[in-house]
Amino acid sequence: MFMMFRALRKWFVSPFGSFSGPKTETLQRPVPKHVAVIMDGNGRWAQKRGLPRIAGHRAGMKAVKRITKVADALGVQVLTMYAFSTENWKRPKDEVAFLMKLPEEFIVSELDELIQNNVQVRFMGETDQLPAHTLRAVEEAVKRTSTNTGLILNFALNYGGRRELVLAMQQAAHAAIHDGLVPTTIDEAWIDEHLQTSGLVHPDLLIRTSGEIRLSNFMLWQLAYAEFWFTEQLWPDFRDQDFIQAIDDYCNRNRRYGGLAINESKDA
Ligand code: FPP
Repeated sequence: MFMMFRALRKWFVSPFGSFSGPKTETLQRPVPKHVAVIMDGNGRWAQKRGLPRIAGHRAGMKAVKRITKVADALGVQVLTMYAFSTENWKRPKDEVAFLMKLPEEFIVSELDELIQNNVQVRFMGETDQLPAHTLRAVEEAVKRTSTNTGLILNFALNYGGRRELVLAMQQAAHAAIHDGLVPTTIDEAWIDEHLQTSGLVHPDLLIRTSGEIRLSNFMLWQLAYAEFWFTEQLWPDFRDQDFIQAIDDYCNRNRRYGGLAINESKDA
């Protein structure tokens, strides 16, 4: 109850503005701590308007800004956005180049406001292949927001869930050979610590836009017990109300983690 009150208070006393309240009066659970988003449908959004695909990505960046504000206002602690996957390098060169410029654009236009609102920016993914200008922008955003204590805005950039697991396994093998790591000490906590989300809670809720119903190599380990929420809405069209609807639905879901719901276990 206290958690819900806190969420609602933040909702109405948002640093970014005010939002209408949730539809449901009797939420079963607090807002999700961590929401992960697969921002899909930028290309189709542009195509529908006779625009180049990159126009869809630019509109998608505006949606990132909107949803960051509403997530913060609702009291979400971590918002992870899938901005570029390890597979997205297969796209046409021009599109990749444009996507690699977006972090700089985002920082130029948004960083000051993010700092004012105590948002901490993080990135996960492999930095080796990123162009130097993208990496500079990423590092600047991370550095300038590193002491902020509010919402964590975590961009997955050149990220792949399988690659992340491969890297963790390589670290285990290295530690076994060089540092005397004993295989039985590798448990779930060890793996968590060696993933790119180290230190973050696992996502409670995954949102995917554009009507596609798949994971696309996103956070394969971390999403094991997340609630999934899909919408036909294309990412650039995704509005505050859609995010609020996803949170509202999540808050009324019954998460059992393989056990029983509280009322079911009383009957046993
Ligand atoms: C998928 O839609 C979207 C992407 C691969 C890129 C998402 C990136 C953004 C929304 C901008 C991120 C912003 C920052 C600051 C890094 P798609 O192109 O596959 O859409 P389609 O399926 O309709 O073709």
